[in-house]
Amino acid sequence: MDQVIDITLTVNGAQVSRRVEPRQHLVDFLREELGLTGSHVACEHGVCGACTLRVDGDIVRGCLMLAVQANGCRVDTVEGLSDSRELAELQKTFHERNALQCGFCTPGMLMAAQDLINQKRKISREEIRAHISGNYCRCTGYQAIVDAIEEVVNGKG
Ligand code: FES
Ligand code: FES
Repeated sequence: MDQVIDITLTVNGAQVSRRVEPRQHLVDFLREELGLTGSHVACEHGVCGACTLRVDGDIVRGCLMLAVQANGCRVDTVEGLSDSRELAELQKTFHERNALQCGFCTPGMLMAAQDLINQKRKISREEIRAHISGNYCRCTGYQAIVDAIEEVVNGKG
């Protein structure tokens, strides 16, 4: 029988306890055990950013962190930040600016962008590009994504 470990963590504000295999990645735990499929999985090597999550306030790659490493942590997913309306302005602006096409990258992109927005300071387009450089988008060419983030960070016009 495979070894299993008991973990307890807070996911989107709710305490969750589960028995997991030590090798299970955090993003797989969220998707498969909790049904939180908003965080996507693509490269599974920390390259594309589709699995971006927030753990204890910092964004992380859910495919590079094990579920057991999140024991005792607060984990926030795109579902949680959407329900709390933390992402509301960014989601609205992405829609208005056509900053998504297929939408596969969008949850991770929103999580990364909100991390920047939460710094609450003026931010240049270069900084926005640098901040989302670890989040790959195969559809948009990034221009509209940067436009949307810039609008939220620095205000319209
Ligand atoms: S799936 Fe995690 S960075 Fe690509
Ligand atoms: S909108 Fe399709 S990958 Fe970004």
